[in-house]
Amino acid sequence: MSSLPGSLQAALEQVEHGERELLAAPNEIRLREVYAAYLGPNGSIKNVFQEALKAAPKEQKKDIGKAGNDARARLDAAFERRLRAFAEEERAKELARAVDVTLPGRAAGVRRLGHLHPITLTRREIERIFAALGFTVESGPEVETDFYNFEALAMPKDHPARDMQDTFYVAGLEDVVLRTHTSPVQIRTMLAQPPPVRAIMPGAVYRKDDDPTHSPMFHQVEGLLVDEHVTLADLKGVLLHFARAFFGPAANVRLRPSFFPFTEPSAEVDISCVFCSGDGQRDGKPCRLCKGTGWMEVGGSGMVDPEVFAHVGYDAERYTGFAFGFGIDRMAMLKYGVNDIKLLYDGDARFLAQFPALGAR
Ligand code: PHE
Repeated sequence: MSSLPGSLQAALEQVEHGERELLAAPNEIRLREVYAAYLGPNGSIKNVFQEALKAAPKEQKKDIGKAGNDARARLDAAFERRLRAFAEEERAKELARAVDVTLPGRAAGVRRLGHLHPITLTRREIERIFAALGFTVESGPEVETDFYNFEALAMPKDHPARDMQDTFYVAGLEDVVLRTHTSPVQIRTMLAQPPPVRAIMPGAVYRKDDDPTHSPMFHQVEGLLVDEHVTLADLKGVLLHFARAFFGPAANVRLRPSFFPFTEPSAEVDISCVFCSGDGQRDGKPCRLCKGTGWMEVGGSGMVDPEVFAHVGYDAERYTGFAFGFGIDRMAMLKYGVNDIKLLYDGDARFLAQFPALGAR
């Protein structure tokens, strides 16, 4: 080798340097860069040997060629070794990864579907049951006038029944309220059409209440049926059908005498307790849902007061009708076993995810 030209000596030193650099490359990208710097199309070593080969006298060409091939082989070997080391590192990392095979799978590329809110589920279920009986679904504004919310429902300004429905007023507009019940939609519906009427009216309502079973905003569904010869028996029959369709075939209905200014007679609607099946006892203790009574109150009802018919121009001599108003939130809580109304309004995804996903049935 001592007969090789000086430039070749320097090249061989470079080969050693290159080997070390290749073996120390911190990652594959750097490794390939180093390799290219020595042996790529413009690689330093490649050029040196090519030049030396051109300039060398014939008898040296063989040695120079061999030295060039050796240099290339050494650098190739270092490159391959480092590349294999990287691959092995990767593989070791992959093998060391702890996988919890008990975790639920993730459907790749599929968007997770949302959930219908329990109040929406309940409202739709109620609409479905009454639609099957031929009831239409009507709606009215949540910001009401005093006339529709109270006056036309036989609750004049000084009426004591207003106290139970204290609500939110609009500053400076004493005749504008957030509706306290869905009953004003009865008035709007009757003003818009002559009898017969068969309608339910779901929607949000507002009151000055706030505790575990009352929220300042909640939902009601109103029912109204007006025709010739409508009696209290029709009311009870429709309520019983609804209770069984919604809570199950064993449900019963009880009407408890009560008072509403816009119905006469009036009754509270109780449905037999879904938790203790109306026994009042569960596991030998008083049922905690119905407090041992066997009954759950779900709303008010009654026969439409003739004074209401007078406000909407219906002939009270010819037509009679019944009306009822249920709390949708309350029915959702009873059906799904929710014990705090705030859960319905917190928007906590962990709560909502417990209800059927969209598209499920
Ligand atoms: N609107 C009444 C309330 O919210 C309920 C009701 C509706 C009573 C229809 C009788 C008839 O308390």
